Formats: sequence, structure tokens, C-alpha cells
Amino acid sequence: MLSTTQNSFSGHVARLLLENKGKRIMPFEYEGQKYWLKQPEKLKGIWRILKAHPQQHFAEETAILRRLNEQGAAVPELVLFGKDFFVVKDVGRTLNSWIEDKSLSEQCKAEILADSAAALNSLHERGFIHGRPALRDIAWHKGKVSFMDFECHSRRENMEWQKIRDGLVYLHSLCRSKHLSDAQVLGAIESYRSFCPPELWGKMLDLLRRYRCVYYLLLPFKPIARMDLIALYRLFELMFINKDKKS
Ligand SMILES: Nc1ncnc2c1ncn2[C@@H]1O[C@H](COP(=O)(O)OP(=O)(O)O)[C@@H](O)[C@H]1O
Ligand SMILES: [Mg+2]
Repeated sequence: MLSTTQNSFSGHVARLLLENKGKRIMPFEYEGQKYWLKQPEKLKGIWRILKAHPQQHFAEETAILRRLNEQGAAVPELVLFGKDFFVVKDVGRTLNSWIEDKSLSEQCKAEILADSAAALNSLHERGFIHGRPALRDIAWHKGKVSFMDFECHSRRENMEWQKIRDGLVYLHSLCRSKHLSDAQVLGAIESYRSFCPPELWGKMLDLLRRYRCVYYLLLPFKPIARMDLIALYRLFELMFINKDKKS
């Protein structure tokens, strides 16, 4: 028979860890609540050289999550952690999963993206930076948006620049989605603009304008461009080229 400790939540997690050693991320249920168990990355082959120190990276990720939990940021609740794992509460489906859902209306998707744009801007307003707010790392559940998988970054870097980068990474991530039409992406860009402080938005546009020449230089390669680059072309096109054609 199991002892009280073995029966407890931490005992359950210890068992899961034993049975799933090295598994990067796995969902599980405990007393009707869904959780996620995360462990350090197990790198193979060339990635061992290219992505060094997974253990240290994981320790930093746990530290960031602890700090954000203490400060009440929009992140999953950290319920248990150790040197080689942490457990967080489920915060719902990620944006890419909502966007890919064919049973959801365009209107619903637009509202989810508007909530996300508002949440990313309010995260910034409170002085937090995500580092790589891609659609797969933002969750939405009944209007509540949560951010996960924060990038480890230097806190000494210029705050404004980091907010600009977060915003552009988010917009780029929207452009990467094959499941969003240009009109839907434009709607989501407009949502982001409406929540972004005008000065910051102006600086995001300035930055994109400065790199516009790169767009023309790379245009001949568009047919063979990789997905990230194609998304960048789409962002340039939606932000400037279509507008230029109209004016
Ligand atoms: N608390 C959570 N709530 C809902 N989904 C989650 C949660 N934690 C992780 N996930 C899911 O697992 C995926 C991978 O988790 P993540 O922390 O981003 O790991 P990785 O660093 O390997 O990208 C996420 O994109 C999301 O789909
Ligand atoms: Mg992730």
C-alpha cells in the first residue's frame, strides 16, 4: 500500500519522473486538474555542440518562472519544482491550436488574437519581456491569456528595444501561420497597434522601414526562402507594400 507521502501530489510527480525520465514536456491529470511536467532538453548529435548547457538553461528557466509567479505575471502557476523538473498548471490551448481549429469562426479567432495583443502589451507595461512570444508559447482560455517558455535574456538590455523585438517576433509569428489569411493577419496587426503605445509602435515601424531594402534585395529568392524568411516577406508586404499600392 502507498504511504501518505507517496500518495501525495509530489509522490505522484516523482513516479511520473521515474517512468518518463528525460521526456521534455508531458501533460498529466491529478484530482481533476491538468498539469504539465517539464524537464531539461536531452540533446542529440550536433545539437549537443550547438545548444550547450541544457541543464543551466533549465535552471534559468525555472528561476524566471519562479520570479514571474512571485510578481503575479500572466504565466502558468508553478506548483512544484526541483533541479531537473518543474510542474505548472495547465493554462489552456495555445494560439496556434486555436488558429488551426476549423470549427472556430473567424470572429472568435480575431477576438483571441485581440486578447493576446492586449495581454502582450500589458505584460510590457508591467515591465516584463517574453523574449520570443511565438504563437505556440501563448495560451488562451476563456479570455485569459498566459505566456510560457520565456527566453533567458539579459536584464541589462534596453527595455524599449526588447519590447520592440517582442512585438515584431509576435507579428512575425502570425505571418508564419498558413492558417491565417492576409486579412486576418492585418486584423491582428491592427489589434496589436491599438494596444501598443504610439511611440513604441512608431519605433517598430521605423525599424521595419530601415530593413525594407533587405526585402527588395532578397525578393528574387522568395520562391526558395525558408519558412521564417517567407514570414518576414509577408510581414513587410502586409505592413508596407499593400499600403503603398493603395496610396
Ligand atoms: N502550462 C501549460 N498549459 C498549456 N499548455 C502547455 C503548458 N506548458 C506547456 N504546454 C504545451 O507544451 C508545449 C511545449 O512547452 P514549452 O514550455 O514551450 O517547451 P519547449 O521549451 O520545449 O518549447 C507548449 O507549446 C504548449 O503546447
Ligand atoms: Mg515552447
